[in-house]
Amino acid sequence: MTPVLPFTIHGTTVHGKRLGSELGFPTANLAYPPAEELPPDGVYVAEALLEGKRYVAILNQGRHPTAPGGQATIESHLVGYESGDFYGRELTLTYLHYLRPEIRFPSLSALKDQLAEDERAALKWVKANRPELADADDGLAGRA
Ligand SMILES: Cc1cc2nc3c(=O)[nH]c(=O)nc-3n(C[C@H](O)[C@H](O)[C@H](O)COP(=O)(O)O)c2cc1C
Repeated sequence: MTPVLPFTIHGTTVHGKRLGSELGFPTANLAYPPAEELPPDGVYVAEALLEGKRYVAILNQGRHPTAPGGQATIESHLVGYESGDFYGRELTLTYLHYLRPEIRFPSLSALKDQLAEDERAALKWVKANRPELADADDGLAGRA
């Protein structure tokens, strides 16, 4: 049976293709496939816990058709996290809210524009639905 939200997954981060960083949205990638059953593929608002700090995150689970090649991934961009590489970190992600399906963009710049929009939508959702996370001063969640 498909898990319902909120859905929490915990794992160690692995290297990605670094395209996210080139787009200005560095991502933490969890090892895949995980042992457990996942929610449907797509883009979600998530809460991330990394080294004791909480962040609002935008998460993409799926096959990233704009830059295909390889396997499905669980990638998350932690809003306000700016300190570099994610490799080998313990990361807990809680999927909170489904935003949209994954789509194939005509260009990387179109994907980049959509990521900015996803971030705005995520912060708006968190403010309305999880204000304590939006106000957390241990991430930069409230900067929308
Ligand atoms: C919130 C979020 C949403 C994304 N949505 C899509 C999407 O709809 N279609 C797509 O092809 N890639 C999407 N991506 C991009 C890929 O998941 C991935 O970040 C990109 O291919 C770079 O991979 P890398 O981290 O291995 O470099 C999204 C990424 C994030 C963080």
